[in-house]
Amino acid sequence: MKLKKCPIVRHKKINEDVFQLVLECPTDWVEKSGKFVDVQVIGKSLRRPISLTDWDENSITLTIKKAGEGTNLLSEMKQGELEVLLNLGNGFDLSYFKKDLLVVGGGIGCAPLIGCIKEAKKCGLDVKVIFGFRNKEQTLFKEELEELDVDYVFAYDDENENVITKMKEMNWDDLPFVTCGPLVMMKKLCEENTQSGLVSLETRMGCGFGACMGCSFKTKEGMKRICKEGPVFKKEEILWENLM
Ligand SMILES: Cc1cc2nc3c(=O)[nH]c(=O)nc-3n(C[C@H](O)[C@H](O)[C@H](O)COP(=O)(O)OP(=O)(O)OC[C@H]3O[C@@H](n4cnc5c(N)ncnc54)[C@H](O)[C@@H]3O)c2cc1C
Ligand code: FES
Repeated sequence: MKLKKCPIVRHKKINEDVFQLVLECPTDWVEKSGKFVDVQVIGKSLRRPISLTDWDENSITLTIKKAGEGTNLLSEMKQGELEVLLNLGNGFDLSYFKKDLLVVGGGIGCAPLIGCIKEAKKCGLDVKVIFGFRNKEQTLFKEELEELDVDYVFAYDDENENVITKMKEMNWDDLPFVTCGPLVMMKKLCEENTQSGLVSLETRMGCGFGACMGCSFKTKEGMKRICKEGPVFKKEEILWENLM
């Protein structure tokens, strides 16, 4: 964990609610996708946890949805620098997968999965992707998926489909998976897909680095902190009733 002042290199509006920030910062700590950073918002005491969408040698890309005051304030930061706590969370351990990988995301939960897909392709995994959104206008990461040259489909709620119906339609329901998105979506996925999976959980956080216990929840293997032992957990260890 390291506190760093990171200059804003780029601010890009994706749609009315979502924007991307590219921050200049060292990335020697990013040994896995699925890790997150805690971004200071001026005027707010608590930092806001945001996953890495992508990174290169000297910058990180964050994709942020306006959810409340903090993220709204961040959306107005187009230049200057942000104080960021780096190197948080465990990330996706892709050695867990042998050959195939199904990547399932919902809404802004797709953000950490872009880095995951990139890494999985580098590891030689056969990657299939399903991203679900409310409607076509809310679609995220189409360009990135095209660039990654990966087998992907989108599911839209307003077309009476979702990531689960899509998974069955594509006959991808017996593939081991990683997922991030709304809890109900991830719970259903864990029930309907019989294979093993890694689940990235998002919750309200306090300190973000394991000190306050504010994000702890009971798992089959005892109490765990989402910010420290997570945010990525094995499907088998999650007790969903303690999260919902
Ligand atoms: C590990 C982790 C990674 C995350 N990665 C991303 C990301 O890549 N992009 C992104 O846009 N957001 C991400 N989030 C969610 C983001 O941190 C929250 O949306 C943000 O902190 C809300 O701050 P706010 O001040 O705008 O809203 P607040 O005023 O604090 O809250 C607005 C509303 O959002 C709800 N809320 C707040 N935090 C969360 C949360 N963590 N999950 C669900 N609902 C929440 C509140 O209950 C409230 O209803 C992540 C969260 C975690 C824990
Ligand atoms: S947010 Fe403080 S321990 Fe996780």
